[in-house]
Amino acid sequence: MTTTPEDARRLVHAEPARPLSEDLRAATAVAHDRAERATFVDDLMSGRLDALGYRRMAEQLYFVYRALETVGDELSGDDVAGPVVDERLRRLPRLGADLATLGVDPSAVIPLPGVRAYVAAIEATRDDPARFVALHYTRYLGDLSGGQVIRSRMKLHYGLTDDALTFYVFDDIDKLKRYKDAYRDTLDALPLDEAQAAALVEEAVAAFGHNERMFAELTG
Ligand code: HEM
Repeated sequence: MTTTPEDARRLVHAEPARPLSEDLRAATAVAHDRAERATFVDDLMSGRLDALGYRRMAEQLYFVYRALETVGDELSGDDVAGPVVDERLRRLPRLGADLATLGVDPSAVIPLPGVRAYVAAIEATRDDPARFVALHYTRYLGDLSGGQVIRSRMKLHYGLTDDALTFYVFDDIDKLKRYKDAYRDTLDALPLDEAQAAALVEEAVAAFGHNERMFAELTG
């Protein structure tokens, strides 16, 4: 039996689309691996740096979260971005408090060039909520996952205290795993057309790139 182009189209459309959360994880897997193995991250996690090394990263993340949470607030009523924006994820006040504990005034910190580019990318999503979701996913799901490992290593290797690491504590979220599963369900239910879904995945890969560049610049 021959398959006509018409049959082929029907077959393609009959296949269930892969959920966005799976596309995202698959598309960023290699970049995630690279980020985890970045020299700065590896040195930090293995105890080869010091508390100052952690502080330098936290200082830069302040700019990233200020942008993420400013734009997030603006998009909180949006059909696409709104469902992921969640007060329980807000990190900026915690990061500010951690930095104060570490003796840093964020207004005196200069963002690295890569971080300036990262912030510009976040700010550019004011008009592109699908891409905002990608930038949101890349940081917050990371904080809820690897972030927990970072917290325990910083205490172990550098003697950082709980009051310098509140950034990684999600008091208002009971079970992080359940929250991450629900977040992925939310992603899968977002009202996106194909072009928006593709842009979202592309932006998540770019977001990992911004993080990699930040780590490279932190290495110096
Ligand atoms: C210290 C280095 C890191 C470690 C040890 C680490 C570890 C992990 C682990 C174990 C997971 C799986 C969690 C799960 O399936 O529930 C995960 C997921 C994730 N990580 Fe990382 N990570 C690191 C760095 C990063 C960085 C630098 C980013 C990006 C800024 C990142 C973003 C993510 C994201 C977005 C996920 C969620 C993947 C998904 O389920 O869709 N991680 N990480």
